Amino acid sequence: MTTKVLAQPAFPQFAGRKVLILYYSRTGHTRTVASQIQGLIGGDLVEIRTVEAYPDDYDAVVAQNAEEQRSGYMPPLRTKIPSIGDYDVIFIGSPLWNVRLTPPVRSFLSSHDLSGKTVAPFVTYIVSGLGRSRRDIGELCPEATVLEGLAVLGEEADEAQAKVRAWLEAMRV
Ligand SMILES: Cc1cc2nc3c(=O)[nH]c(=O)nc-3n(C[C@H](O)[C@H](O)[C@H](O)COP(=O)(O)O)c2cc1C
Repeated sequence: MTTKVLAQPAFPQFAGRKVLILYYSRTGHTRTVASQIQGLIGGDLVEIRTVEAYPDDYDAVVAQNAEEQRSGYMPPLRTKIPSIGDYDVIFIGSPLWNVRLTPPVRSFLSSHDLSGKTVAPFVTYIVSGLGRSRRDIGELCPEATVLEGLAVLGEEADEAQAKVRAWLEAMRV
């Protein structure tokens, strides 16, 4: 976990609110966006890590993900946050895999109680935008308030700062 405390918050709606930025990333795009969010509003940044890494080979990951989605498999995680109840606003970042959240993110959400939290989803993708990521979060966190999500084209993640900023500025938490 890295923690960033901003001397002067540029986003007043986050003042006094405890922020957690969670993400899973296999090839780095979603990590880039997560870091941009932290750079702008501060908070705790935590990577969701699996016990078993996914294969490097693209076709192998596609096949494994398809099977995990079909069976509803929740991969075991290294990342656990017993203090999740302390946070007010939780950002959840995932690459879009077959139009859905990745199994590691679904596994995290199914093993942590986000009732009463404000949840802000963000995804990176190639063609599908937000896909059904927001619906996945709503199903896994039925008692959370799920805000409008942000979708960033993976290959444009390095240049997404302005888009991320605009999304955060418009956010009411
Ligand atoms: C198994 C798998 C399935 C994917 N499915 C989709 C998809 O349905 N729609 C889409 O737009 N991109 C899809 N992608 C592309 C990723 O969402 C995109 O490359 C993303 O930016 C990767 O994020 P990362 O670098 O944080 O891992 C898929 C990638 C993988 C590996």
